[in-house]
Parts: sequence; structure tokens; C-alpha cells
Amino acid sequence: MTEQTQRTRVAIIGGGPAGSLLSHLLHRQGVENVVLERRSRAYVLSRIRAGVLEHGSVETLVAAGLGERVQSEGYVHDGVFLAFGGRRVRVDFADLTSRSVTIYGQTEVQHDLYDALDERAGRIVFEAEDVALHGVDGDRPAVTYTADGQDHRLEAEWIVGCDGYHGPSRGVIPGDVLRTYERVYPFGWLGILSETPPVSEELIYANHERGFALCSMRNEHLSRYYVQCSLEDAPDDWSDDRFWDELTTRLPDEVGDQLVTGPSIEKSIAPLRSFVAEPMRYGRLLLAGDAAHIVPPTGAKGLNLAISDVVYLARALGEFAANGSTTGLDSYSRTALDRVWKAVRFSWWMTTLMHRFPDQDGFDRRLQQAELSLLESSREARASLATNYVGLPI
Ligand code: APR
Ligand code: PHB
Repeated sequence: MTEQTQRTRVAIIGGGPAGSLLSHLLHRQGVENVVLERRSRAYVLSRIRAGVLEHGSVETLVAAGLGERVQSEGYVHDGVFLAFGGRRVRVDFADLTSRSVTIYGQTEVQHDLYDALDERAGRIVFEAEDVALHGVDGDRPAVTYTADGQDHRLEAEWIVGCDGYHGPSRGVIPGDVLRTYERVYPFGWLGILSETPPVSEELIYANHERGFALCSMRNEHLSRYYVQCSLEDAPDDWSDDRFWDELTTRLPDEVGDQLVTGPSIEKSIAPLRSFVAEPMRYGRLLLAGDAAHIVPPTGAKGLNLAISDVVYLARALGEFAANGSTTGLDSYSRTALDRVWKAVRFSWWMTTLMHRFPDQDGFDRRLQQAELSLLESSREARASLATNYVGLPI
């Protein structure tokens, strides 16, 4: 079988939010690119992920001409609640930061990105199999893959690995160059989606002696709730009744009393981990999004970090395409990692503050209580949380 060879400026591996947004941002600067995605379009669009967009993420989407639906259908939230000890403390983003976040599911962002890609007839190959990277330490890198039973070779100036935690890109960085940092948390999140009105207009993050709980939503008829669970649990261990009982127990009475329950339409368990790979560039390979870093969902930073990475990358690749300058590409890893580590710190801090750890002793528990009490009494403490939650500057 003969191999089909094509050329492009930027080969993007992975058509999740990072890869498809990068493709869009490059297209707007006239930089030709091709996206290779292992899954089908329907599969990518069926993944349920977090739903909080930072202020800067919304600004990015709007500036890229992708703002129509997020602005008309997203919900602007001016604060969140922290619940503990039977009470609730509101962190007022508008007052503390003059900024807000927008509730808009990652699935919707992905829809908007694929719609935009269709409109501009962008090149994306779905169900690309056996994607492999070649020559990233030289000037003429390439990606080979199989699609529709045919072998393909895509030659490019740059390869961007947007292929998530399990993708092949990170693995081509030699072991003596790649450094990884990891923290695995000893619990998971059991999440459900239910066609019920959300219990609260704003998100509630609850610390309870039985474990963490989160009340979130997608719209006024669709709620998203989570409870901390054991990593040994399977979704089938949790009947809807068991889930609702546990959630109610972990919320302050005045919230639990208002909870509207109903059948779950999705139920899954996600493990929690922090992970960072350094550097985010090796030769002609650049990494972005989950391919380079993972955060636990507490604080909803995953999608937002993918967006800031590709904003930096689009600028740097645009500059290279315009005048051959590698200044932005040379500093990409440093610039991106600086922001990544701040979000990793914040997600770790919120996770540590809000969960029950199996080996937690009385001392650890008192520290959590002291920190929550500080957040209640100190505007400065709340301002720090708010500044990180609405998102650090891109
Ligand atoms: N070949 C081609 N594509 C691949 C391969 C491969 N071998 N392996 C993985 N992919 C694709 C996946 O199918 C997926 O669509 O790469 C894409 C990676 O997308 P995401 O995992 O969504 O990662 P990213 O685009 O970086 O977005 C980060 O997603 O996981 C959440 O919490 C995370 O919200 C954050 C966001
Ligand atoms: C969600 O709505 O799925 C969600 C919201 C906030 C988080 C995590 C997940 O911190």
C-alpha cells in the first residue's frame, strides 16, 4: 500500500478543546494546520467534563469569534459558596475581583469549535489510527497515521501534542529531558447529571466530615452534582437513592431541604490527580493541555489551562509563520508552566481544604477548620481564592 504524503505548517495531534481551539486560532492568523483525532466526532462530543469558564477563557472565545452561544446561553456567576460546619460562606467574585466566571459545559465549547471548523472547512481527520511522531529533534518533523485503511504521512514545521494524558506525544521526549511531577489523591468523585433544577443559583463546594460534595449545574433544568467516594467504588454501587441521601447529608440543612431529586441520566467516577510534565517544548514538538498537565477538578481549571496554553502557542506560531521568529516558541514552555503551576497549586489547595483524606488526623482536620474559618472572616483570604478562581491573567 502506498503512503499518501501531505504538507502543512502545523500538525496538531488531538481534536479535544486544546487541539480544536488551537486550529481555530491559527486559522484566524492564516496559519495552515491539520488536526488528527483518534476518536469519532460523536465520541468526542459525548464526553461530559467540567463546566466553568474563567473570565479570560470567555474573553478568548469571544475575541476568536466563538462567543455567540457562550454569551447568550452561558450563565454568568458572580460568586461561589463554601459550605462547612452546617453553614455557607459566599465568595463574592464581583466585589473582590470585579470579574466573574461563566457556566458553560466543555461539551458545548467543543460543539462550537467543531461548528466553526466546519464553517471554515478546516482540516480534521477523525478516527486517525496509529498516530506516530517522527523527527521532532530535526527541522522537518512528521506524523504518520492510518485513516480509512490508508497510510498517511503529514509533514509539518511544528507538531503540537494536544492528545491528552494518554496520547503519544509526551512519550517522544527523551527520558533524560522529560521531568514529571505527580500527586495522586486517595479518593474519587462520583458525578451525576440529572434533569432537575439546580439546588442553588451558584456553585456550592462543601466540606463535610463524611467527605466533599459539589453542587453545580448546566442550565436551569439540568444539574451536575458530585460526592467524594472511595476509589474502590463502582458507579453501580451507588443507586440514585444512595447518591441523593449522601449528597443531602453533606450539605447544610437549609440547602439539603431544597434539593430536588430525580433519576440520574449519567453517573461516573473520576480519579483525582495533579500531574505536570516539563518542558512543554522539545525541538519541534510543543505540548498543550492535558498532554502536559492534569489538575484535580476542584476549582475547574483543566479546560481553562488548555485554553491559556493554546493562546500562548497561537501567538508564538503566528509570529513564526509571519517572520520566522522563534522568540515566542523559545519562551513558550517557561510562560505556560508559570501559569500552569499556579493553577496546579490552587487546585491542590482547594482539594486539600475541602476533602476528607483517609489518613487525616485531628490536627489536619483542625487546620482545615481554621482555614475555612479564616476564609469566613477575612476578606483578604476570600480575595485570594476569588483571584485564582476567576483566573489569573493569560
Ligand atoms: N491520536 C490522535 N488523537 C488522540 C490520541 C492519538 N493517539 N490520543 C488521544 N487523542 C485525542 C483524544 O481522543 C482527545 O480527543 O486527544 C484529545 C485530547 O483531548 P482532551 O483529553 O479533552 O484534552 P485537552 O484538549 O487538552 O483538553 C483539556 O479536557 O480532560 C479535560 O479536564 C480536561 O477540561 C480539560 C480539557
Ligand atoms: C462541573 O460543573 O462539572 C464542575 C464545576 C466545578 C468544578 C468541577 C466540575 O470545580
